[in-house]
Amino acid sequence: MSKKPAELPDYLKLKNADIILKYGSDILSDEAFLTQREYLQHGTVSVYDHVIYVADKSLSYAKKLHLKVDEKALVRGALLHDYYLYDWHIHGAFYRGHIIRHPKEAAAKAKQDFKVSKKEENMIRRHMFPLTITPPRYREGWLISWADKTSAVSETLGKKARRSKAKRAADSAKKAAARKAAKAEAKAKAAQAKKSAK
Ligand SMILES: [Fe+2]
Ligand SMILES: [Fe+2]
Repeated sequence: MSKKPAELPDYLKLKNADIILKYGSDILSDEAFLTQREYLQHGTVSVYDHVIYVADKSLSYAKKLHLKVDEKALVRGALLHDYYLYDWHIHGAFYRGHIIRHPKEAAAKAKQDFKVSKKEENMIRRHMFPLTITPPRYREGWLISWADKTSAVSETLGKKARRSKAKRAADSAKKAAARKAAKAEAKAKAAQAKKSAK
């Protein structure tokens, strides 16, 4: 698969973009990973935005709590924790037992497509604790599990500024209107010039 350069969306206003890019650039530039822009997670937030936000939040929690963490695992585990690659919104939360089964599916697909360490795999598989009975083995797993839950709440309630589908549509409508206005202005100017040349 061809790779695009790794980038992070500005609208997420990330606090740890440098660390995320340092350890996650191969994931962030992967075409299959980028398809998650089209899948909704909570509210109008895409899976893509959600997992990047969880990575950022996990790093911030670690800093706040002065925890010594494996930043590489934290970033990669967070970016891949919901790598199940379908839109459960279309089918509902119970689609294919989504709530319970998606961590296992995400881990399997992540291992197929990326280099995933044992720790990262454990983080992905156990991020839904306590809904899935076994708790995370590593502190990085606890961090993403907590960041996942707090993000889900803010995303569902829509408290965080996100580039939602609605906003994307509004932005492109705005741009189209601006283009139309510029065209009309240029046309009027040309007509005026023609008139004064006569
Ligand atoms: Fe999840
Ligand atoms: Fe998640």
